[in-house]
Amino acid sequence: MIDEKDFLDLFIPGPVNISKDCRQKLTLRMIAHRSETMGELHRDIATYLQKLLFTSNQIILSTSSSTGLMEAAIRNCVDKKGVLNVLNGAFAERWHSIALMNGKEADALNIDWGKAVTAQQLKEKLDEKEYDAVCITQNETSTGVTTPLKDLYRVIKDHGCLLLVDAVSSAGGVETRVDEWEIDVYLFGLQKCMALPPGLAVASVSEEALKMAKTVPNRGWYFDFLYLKKYHDRNGMQPATPVIPIYYALQYQLHKIVDEEGIENRWARHTEMGDYTREWVKARGLTLFADESVASNTVTCVNSLGIDVPKLKSDLMKKGYLFATGYGKFKEKNFRIAHMGDRTLEELATYLQTIEELIR
Ligand SMILES: Cc1ncc(COP(=O)(O)O)c(C=O)c1O
Repeated sequence: MIDEKDFLDLFIPGPVNISKDCRQKLTLRMIAHRSETMGELHRDIATYLQKLLFTSNQIILSTSSSTGLMEAAIRNCVDKKGVLNVLNGAFAERWHSIALMNGKEADALNIDWGKAVTAQQLKEKLDEKEYDAVCITQNETSTGVTTPLKDLYRVIKDHGCLLLVDAVSSAGGVETRVDEWEIDVYLFGLQKCMALPPGLAVASVSEEALKMAKTVPNRGWYFDFLYLKKYHDRNGMQPATPVIPIYYALQYQLHKIVDEEGIENRWARHTEMGDYTREWVKARGLTLFADESVASNTVTCVNSLGIDVPKLKSDLMKKGYLFATGYGKFKEKNFRIAHMGDRTLEELATYLQTIEELIR
């Protein structure tokens, strides 16, 4: 049996710690998924997600991990012209695999890991060929890079493409204005900057994306945006039974973020933690894996430069922390410091101080 003492302070880039008040919401009594209470819950969540994302687009809730909605975006928004996937890390590569495994035409725009695509690079690629959509990972969790969508959306739109964005490790932590930046699908799970459990994924979907979906065959059943919309419009229902306990916690957390902390203040707290971590890295003679101009404010990737990463991980575990090594092929070459969700600067400073004592 798992015991309270087995839990570690999660400094990994998701899942992250969940506050006690949010955890309490997960244990509320069950309601029926076709009840009026469920409809109210759904509608309130959708309204607050629109506020969080600065959008009036359709909100889709999906009982799945975030990858489910990546698959949905590809299945609904990519047709004969295919998709251009911007690949600058392990999660970006997932876009490409999903497109190919769903039988879609897909090209890759390879960017060095640690860097973000520029508007010029995108323009050159989009000038060569027409696409239905461009897929971008807003925050590449494997490298600690945030791609500046604000600088890119114009060129994508000018080429007549839909913009599909994986915001799994940025939504709720990094400035994003879905309508202003004309993002057609903006999708994420809740286990990162939203500081909630995994299991429910959400997306905003534009009118243009829905229009596109009407023309794309074989959208499947579970992830068909039009089918989901039809049920959502029917008094906030889902076609299949949703993960109701996470709805309770999401409603509560959205009210806290929007009405108490403030969306811009939440972004600012993440920026402050990102700045603090980068300064800490440099002051210790360490180096960032990412180009500093695009370094993420939710996760910092640090070159290990002789630090014994597995040993540091086990030393930190003894002190009650779960540390993040590098991702995949970078397991020992770098390590990652997550500063996302409800994390405070004080907690982060204590963690970094502990690392410093262990590597000194
Ligand atoms: C940027 C990014 N995209 C996609 C995913 C996949 O999310 P999920 O495990 O919720 O499907 C992750 C998970 O870490 C991620 O960081």
